[in-house]
Amino acid sequence: MVLQNIKIEDFNVLLDPENNFWTIYDHEIPDRIIETYRRLKNELDAKMEKYRSEVDFNTVYLNITERCNANCPYCYIPHEIRRRGKEIDVDLLSDILNSLAELGIKNVVFHGAEPLLSKDKIFEIVENFGNELGFGIQTNAFLLTEEDSDFLKEKRINVGISFDSTSENVEDFLRGKGHYRKVNEVLEWFSGYRGFHVITTITSYNVNELDKIIDYLAGKVELILMNPVRGTSLGGRNLRPDPNVCAEGFIKAVERAIWHTKNGKRITIGDFANVLLGIVSPYSRVLQCDISPCGGGRRFFAITPEGVFPCSEFIGLEDFRQPLSILKDPEKIKTSFANLKGRRVECIDDCRECAFRNICGSPCPAEVYAEKGSLIQKSPYCDFYKKVIEHAFKVIRRGDLGSVLRLERLRKVYEIFET
Ligand SMILES: C[S@@+](CC[C@H](N)C(=O)[O-])C[C@H]1O[C@@H](n2cnc3c(N)ncnc32)[C@H](O)[C@@H]1O
Ligand code: SF4
Ligand code: SF4
Repeated sequence: MVLQNIKIEDFNVLLDPENNFWTIYDHEIPDRIIETYRRLKNELDAKMEKYRSEVDFNTVYLNITERCNANCPYCYIPHEIRRRGKEIDVDLLSDILNSLAELGIKNVVFHGAEPLLSKDKIFEIVENFGNELGFGIQTNAFLLTEEDSDFLKEKRINVGISFDSTSENVEDFLRGKGHYRKVNEVLEWFSGYRGFHVITTITSYNVNELDKIIDYLAGKVELILMNPVRGTSLGGRNLRPDPNVCAEGFIKAVERAIWHTKNGKRITIGDFANVLLGIVSPYSRVLQCDISPCGGGRRFFAITPEGVFPCSEFIGLEDFRQPLSILKDPEKIKTSFANLKGRRVECIDDCRECAFRNICGSPCPAEVYAEKGSLIQKSPYCDFYKKVIEHAFKVIRRGDLGSVLRLERLRKVYEIFET
């Protein structure tokens, strides 16, 4: 048995980190739990191993242009690349789209630098490939018009916009002058549209107002990602919040989101929902930053005018670039990025024995590689993840799982009951 005991406040969690079988108990662990665990262990180990090692691409992040109309201080895309501003031309784009359909890719997310600088190309792709592929767009929204929003809604495109602060000064400082007002306009246009979400990048500027951001967005949007800034760039490292302060701010935001959801304005913090999924449904997590090896180069990859990268976060890291020609060779792309696919959390000294290692995954590899020059390094956010995972168990224990996850969308696979 490799079950580990974790004491959280006044209760205990017994967890097998190899497969994330767990139970919460107060004093004694019921025998039937241990019997079930023994019976299922091999099967669960195999499921987890498959989930961690399988190469099964479903999403591509397509960066048509390297240009951006903003200059966020933490951006992981190096300034030189955004200034150089190469763009994929129309013929090559349609070649790429055809290759993706052949690779079995289901979703294409137009990503950045700033995708709306290539708006015409994007809208044409959506018209031409809308029957074969699902599309999304992640944008700073500066160039979005109401007419564009009607088109995106009509075509059922997923839309994500970036928004970092409820203070106009902070927002405009981080994201560019006029951004605060623009976001407010866009929130109106997409009001009630299910395929809409917000991304907030957590930095030392907004770490203490994450709960206010939830208050501000509740009723306007149902899904928000709150991602700690990655130190992939020096700008990102300079704005990285203290991990314990980050956990405190994030947990406050989680509690506000649960409160609003219970009071009729459902709002979910995607990152926290994913941590909960890592516990209650570990082989079905949607975001794949917290699995190790992560989803980069296994479930998704990023395409830029300069080549193919395992994930957008690697765009500035030349060691991880492959030529665009690999898109023509499905076998080659499946076997590329071997070094990233070899980054297993148990290879990292401090993480090897950690009970949470297959809930956390010690992300992000691009961040640690950029900073330390090696993939086999622990996440600078370790204390953040520990606290957030402990909080996730508290939320489960007090019965609030359904205020974060839509339980009706989960399928019950195992049930333990008294005989
Ligand atoms: C690189 S941008 C590209 C799309 C578009 N330009 C935008 O800003 O939404 C995608 C997302 O990554 C976030 N991002 C940029 N640099 C980051 C970093 N160092 N760490 C975490 N997220 C970052 C941005 O805030 C944005 O939400
Ligand atoms: S985060 Fe987006 S908007 Fe900001 S500089 Fe990077 S690509 Fe541009
Ligand atoms: S980073 Fe920290 S919480 Fe995550 S696996 Fe490593 S030791 Fe555990």
